[in-house]
Parts: sequence; C-alpha cells; structure tokens
Amino acid sequence: MRLTHTQLERFREDGFLILPSLFSESEVGTLRSELPRLFAERRPENFREKESDAVRTAMGLHLRSEVYSRAVRHPRLVEPAMQILGDALYVQQVKVNAKEAFSGDVWQWHYDFATHHGEDGVPEPLALNLHIFLDEVNEFNGPLVFIRGSHRRGPAPATLDTETTSYPLWVVDNDNVTRLIDAGGLVAAKGPPGTALIFGDTLVHGSSINMSPWPRMIFSLILNPVSNALTRHRRPDHQHHRDLTPVVPLADDCLLASVGAG
Ligand code: SIN
Ligand code: MN
Repeated sequence: MRLTHTQLERFREDGFLILPSLFSESEVGTLRSELPRLFAERRPENFREKESDAVRTAMGLHLRSEVYSRAVRHPRLVEPAMQILGDALYVQQVKVNAKEAFSGDVWQWHYDFATHHGEDGVPEPLALNLHIFLDEVNEFNGPLVFIRGSHRRGPAPATLDTETTSYPLWVVDNDNVTRLIDAGGLVAAKGPPGTALIFGDTLVHGSSINMSPWPRMIFSLILNPVSNALTRHRRPDHQHHRDLTPVVPLADDCLLASVGAG
C-alpha cells in the first residue's frame, strides 16, 4: 500500500495521519480474539494500571501470538512506513494499550522520542508509531489527542515521570504544551474499529482517562530504521526490542489466512 502525495504532505505538515477503515471488521476481530488470553497472563510484559488490576498496556505481543507476529509485518502498516522512512526498519515495540472502561488511566502529554532517546539512546527522531483501533474510539473513552504541527517546533524539553501512572514516561510540561497548542491546536483521533493512525516521534500527544463504559483498545507498532537503532539496553526487550532484522511485509490477507498456514 502506498500513501498518496496529499497524504504525505499532510503527514509532514500535521505530524500525523488518520486513515479511516484501513482494516476490516474481520481483521480487527482476529486481533481482538487473542487478547483475553494475552491479558490474563501474569508476566512483566503486561503492565497493569496503578489503581487497579486492569491491563494498561500489553507488550511484546508478536513474540507471544502468531496473529500479532503477522500484524507487525502487515503491508498496510509496513509499506507506508517504508515509504516515509526509505530504509530497512526493525520492530521496536509492539503493544495493545487497553484503556479499560471506567478505569483506563491518562497518558500524559509526551512525544515518543523523548523516551526512545532518554532511555534507549536512539540517535534521531525517525521512528513511526502505527496504530489500529480495536474498538470504536470516541470523545468519551480517552482518544489520543495530537498537538497539530508540534513536531515542527520541537523536540520540546522533557522530563521522566515515574509517579503519575504505572508506566514511566518522559513528559512535556504545561508551559511547553500551552505554547505548542497555541501554535497548532488539538485534534482528537476518533473513529470506528479498523481506523489506523501514523504519527512521528516528536509529535506531542496524550490521552485522558476513560470514564465511559466503553473500553478503548488500540494496537500500536513502532518501526525504526536499522541505521537509527538503540544504543543503550537499559530497558527490557519488550520495551525496545534488540532484534534489528529488517521487517519484510507479508501478503495483504495475512490476518485472514488461517494461523499455521505459513
Ligand atoms: C494512548 O494509548 O492513549 C497513548 C498511546 C501512545 O502514547 O502512543
Ligand atoms: Mn506515545
């Protein structure tokens, strides 16, 4: 799959793309069907919320599930990333952020490169974050909110926050967030299941708590050029994978073909 010239321009201008209906109901169903088993596991890859036992984020999924090992090679995610980055890409991080009904906690204002650089010594802000909505995401269940164009005014100063939630994150302070919002405004990324997002490493984003009765599960794949790989191994493999083998896209129907068929 190739992005159009207009989509590429939008991406460069805004720092993100929202791609409605990129994945079908049955593809989303395949991805969702694995989650009860994966979320039930007690292992370090499953981070639980600070105030409850609900899974906040479940990582390393391509090493725990055949379905997710296909998802990270899906051509509708990998080919646009290759088109933008023009390089051999490795799978940096693979997760589902759950944001459970009534208990899903905030993701503070941040941009991913602050963590990729601060924790893992990634040299340049090149990585792309590719999302697939596994639920409807609406204004009530904690959509990702992007500060439009913030990637062009950054990277903003960031500090490590280990207190606010169960997940340590390098965050941006309120003064810088205000300055960036004044310049670019906010966009909430909403849509039905199967909607996809692409956003860059210095785009400032966050999401509020889920007070609604509707869960908000989102699959996230981070791809990074092999030439821009991590230089520090402080975090466990599931937070930044060490396997730098370039990802090779599978066939377009890879999530529909029966598991075990190759
Ligand atoms: C979220 O799941 O709301 C935040 C995800 C991210 O920061 O990529
Ligand atoms: Mn992020």
